[in-house]
Amino acid sequence: MKEQLVQTFATLFGDSEGANHYFTPGRVNLIGEHTDYNGGHVFPCALTLGTYGVARKRNDRLMHFYSLNVDSVGVIEISLDDLNHRNSHSWANYPLGVVWAFKEKGHALDCGFDMVIWGDIPNGSGLSSSASVEVLTGLILTDLFAIADLSMIDLARIGQYAENNFCGINCGIMDQFAVAMGKKDHAIFLDTADLSYEYVPIQLTDAKIIITNSKVKHSLVDSAYNQRRQECTDACIALQKELNITALGQLDEKTFDAHKELIGDAIKEKRAKHAVYENQRTIQAVKALNAGDINKFGALMNQSHISLRDDYGVSCEEIDVLVDLAWSIPGVIGSRITGGGFGGCTVSIVTNSAVDTFIDTVGKGYLKKVGHAAEFYTVDIGDGARKL
Ligand code: GLA
Repeated sequence: MKEQLVQTFATLFGDSEGANHYFTPGRVNLIGEHTDYNGGHVFPCALTLGTYGVARKRNDRLMHFYSLNVDSVGVIEISLDDLNHRNSHSWANYPLGVVWAFKEKGHALDCGFDMVIWGDIPNGSGLSSSASVEVLTGLILTDLFAIADLSMIDLARIGQYAENNFCGINCGIMDQFAVAMGKKDHAIFLDTADLSYEYVPIQLTDAKIIITNSKVKHSLVDSAYNQRRQECTDACIALQKELNITALGQLDEKTFDAHKELIGDAIKEKRAKHAVYENQRTIQAVKALNAGDINKFGALMNQSHISLRDDYGVSCEEIDVLVDLAWSIPGVIGSRITGGGFGGCTVSIVTNSAVDTFIDTVGKGYLKKVGHAAEFYTVDIGDGARKL
């Protein structure tokens, strides 16, 4: 792919002399969903799937963005003097948002650049193709413009800042953090309250992690996401009448249950319950994994799905079909929706001897019930963002 990227760069921009290469992964979250904007824990890992980029500085104030994945939109040209979100910028709003965020943070660029990308993360699948492009852009800018005082974690924060304030999605830090900080064969146990983290080895000798792509993405995802976040904020404010907290992640189940009637709204109570219980589940799940108890980890994944489906309301029919089919197969240790929800992917832990049956049974059952095929990817956990 490197060759093709370089060739495309040279065709579009004259030659490829002095252009540099970069890679940022996608991510899958094993457990800890919708906890990252509630000051809770998450447990994602970086994939070997990701986004490749080639970039070089220019002598003028223009930026050129080209993606081999969306070549139909051609080269998108934007001036450094017009850092505004526009629908006509298509996917380039993601890198543009990062350029804008760099400026906001005191790192205005003094010239433009050319950038060509290609990625193998299925788009809109909930595997963080947008966070991957954001962190890729951050990495490219720090490298091309020799900005030495920004760490990988700073790049994750800047990506999130761009997504929140330029693209209008109030996401938490999980995706950008996992993309920037991933480590081969490890998941990241991240406390989003203070960004302290620990790498936990994932050594499943007798099982595989399998992502199943439902190939559906329901509309209103972004507005529903922001709405969930608002419901959690409202619940937290209501609980503050009696509890000295700043985020739902600070509560254990018992304290929450003893005070939940303060919320005074059945839907918001369910949302908050998920946030509190899911955070505790994530802590328990990592403990279980560290103790070698993969079955307990899997059982907690299943509970996570039920909670996301019934209390948080972010699953959908197609995803529930995938999860129900998975649960019916002996040898499936755990299966749940992963990512923001309303479509996208499930993540399952499947005993080696059951992998073929899993793909066959879930594949056929899904096609029959939903009418189109699902896709399966066996997860290889890779390293985070890097210059190649
Ligand atoms: C999306 C967001 C993340 C996180 C997940 C849900 O992927 O970008 O910040 O909130 O949804 O866990």
